[in-house]
Amino acid sequence: MHSDGKTIISVDDLSDSQISRLFKSARDLRDQNIKKHLNAVLMTAFFEPSTRTRLSFEMAAHRLGIHVSTFDASSSSMSKGESEEETISNLLAMQPDILVVRKKTPLKISDASKTGIINGGDGTNEHPTQALLDCFTLVEHFQSDNLKNKRILIVGDVRHSRVAHSNIKLLKRLFAEVVVLAPAPFQMDSLEIPHLSSFDDVDGPIDAVMCLRVQKERLSQSFHESEFVRDFMMNIERFRALGENCVVMHPGPMNIGIEISDEVATHQRSLIKKQVHNGVFVRAALLEHCLQRN
Ligand code: NCD
Repeated sequence: MHSDGKTIISVDDLSDSQISRLFKSARDLRDQNIKKHLNAVLMTAFFEPSTRTRLSFEMAAHRLGIHVSTFDASSSSMSKGESEEETISNLLAMQPDILVVRKKTPLKISDASKTGIINGGDGTNEHPTQALLDCFTLVEHFQSDNLKNKRILIVGDVRHSRVAHSNIKLLKRLFAEVVVLAPAPFQMDSLEIPHLSSFDDVDGPIDAVMCLRVQKERLSQSFHESEFVRDFMMNIERFRALGENCVVMHPGPMNIGIEISDEVATHQRSLIKKQVHNGVFVRAALLEHCLQRN
């Protein structure tokens, strides 16, 4: 837990009132398009691939008039043997106003730094900005301040998904009921939330379903794709069975035909492109939040 307000490794680093102010300012930024941080510098350092997260932080910064400096791991001194930790410590020594980091292992910050640090996804641990934008998209969809009485089903590789780990924490803080559906090797160790292992066990209407990509790059055991597709892919029949108002979400990148069918991904009750759209404003709100604390 980081209490300086500008180190966001986990959703736990934000208080309830900070989250509700962030959501309000994401709404304001979406509706106003103001540039106001003309001297600030955002640095992005992604040691794992990214499309949406990095570009949406960079878009958010451009919208706010913040300068952007992008670290490129492939052309960096990492090819000369420098570690991720040592690289991060050197980037912090340059004192950008904000550093967004994505890396393969848990993000730990030991240096006291002037820089606001935001976790852009660390291994299987957390992805706080994805959870913020997902929950923002849900509260907007339900036109509410929280997710009281909403049942959210998370399907797929929950064990290896940093998106799921941050979302489970944040959904619960917003009072949602969370149910996980996953094959045994993809279930979490924690038994705090109900785990189902078959679609047949999903009981009653679901308000939103979050589909997850199988994190093949993080699996130690073999993965039987055809069995996963047969038993866990969100196809149109399964989606319809969740209820006539259920919306579908996915953080991307999607493997169409594995965890979700094309028909569901492009369904009129799909919020998938809304998530990407909202991501820019939620990240802009978080950049402002960190700059206000510098
Ligand atoms: C996710 C990630 O990198 O954790 N993508 C994202 O940030 N939108 C999900 C994934 O890789 O499956």
